[in-house]
Amino acid sequence: MADIRFDGRVAIVTGAGAGLGKTYALALAERGAKVVVNDLGGSRDGSGADSKAADMVVAEIKGKGGEAVANYDSVATKEGGENIVKTAVEAFGKVDILINNAGILRDKSLMKIEEAEWDLVLAVHLKGAFCVTQPAFKVMKENGFGRIINTASGAGLYGNFGQSNYCSAKMGLVGLMNNVCIEGAKYNILCNTIAPVAASRLTEDVLPPSLFEKLKPEFVTPLVLYLVSEECTTGKMIFNCAAGWFSRTEVLCAPGICLGDGKRDINAEEIRENWAAITSLDNAKPLANVTESFGFLGPLLS
Ligand code: NAI
Repeated sequence: MADIRFDGRVAIVTGAGAGLGKTYALALAERGAKVVVNDLGGSRDGSGADSKAADMVVAEIKGKGGEAVANYDSVATKEGGENIVKTAVEAFGKVDILINNAGILRDKSLMKIEEAEWDLVLAVHLKGAFCVTQPAFKVMKENGFGRIINTASGAGLYGNFGQSNYCSAKMGLVGLMNNVCIEGAKYNILCNTIAPVAASRLTEDVLPPSLFEKLKPEFVTPLVLYLVSEECTTGKMIFNCAAGWFSRTEVLCAPGICLGDGKRDINAEEIRENWAAITSLDNAKPLANVTESFGFLGPLLS
């Protein structure tokens, strides 16, 4: 089979000045895409800014014969998001691929976290993805093609001590993905979410050194490349990816038990009696949308 290529495609990678984003930008360019390398160039906690981060990746791409332009806007504002998309349209005429990757950390336990630390992390990860996705979606809709990646985290999907802001933002990105898929379906706009683990400045003091060495960001890149390719026609999925491990993870709905008949009141004791059936994940499955969950109301529907 032919290699997966991106000739003629235009990609935006946010936070592409380092870590995972840099690997996506380099790999996309190597396979023919024109790339907007966005990076604010701030520190790990989101403070500061430096155009060098994006410039160095652009120089590396160009040095290898690829095409790229830098953008230094923060994803966290509407103007920034619009300018990132404008950079792609002005330089390359369109946007086909968007990888929402930019991220920061302000870790603190729930009791200690300050409002500003909550707001900033939500602004970069969740609002930031919205701010870039909305204008990109408009261009993708006009062209009838779009592939979007949201970057969640195992911390958001499963929980992690001291990261209530980060975990909430990351889970919010799953919600954004769901809607992008539902609203983008008729325009061939697909969105998937990844939960990566990789060695970067975000994880250098969190992961044990022996594991850190085995978690090259490049091990995550192949999944992202496949997901943003024309060949991938799957959307609305969530993937764990780390060190060459790729696995699907999902928000599922189980059939449970329908105790109601639309008229009779149900009491707390019935919940207790039926706890095993209510909490069972037997035959659980992902749903296409919220309306599908009404199907479990069974007899109430007739
Ligand atoms: P990184 O710190 O190496 O890269 C993140 C990049 O985003 C930096 O270059 C930074 O300057 C840029 N950035 C930060 N705020 C920005 C803003 N407002 N606008 C534009 N650019 C901005 O970190 P890494 O590890 O490569 O993280 C990439 C993404 O993957 C993040 O969303 C992170 O939360 C996520 N992630 C990473 C994991 C890991 O194990 N490294 C685990 C789970 C999720």
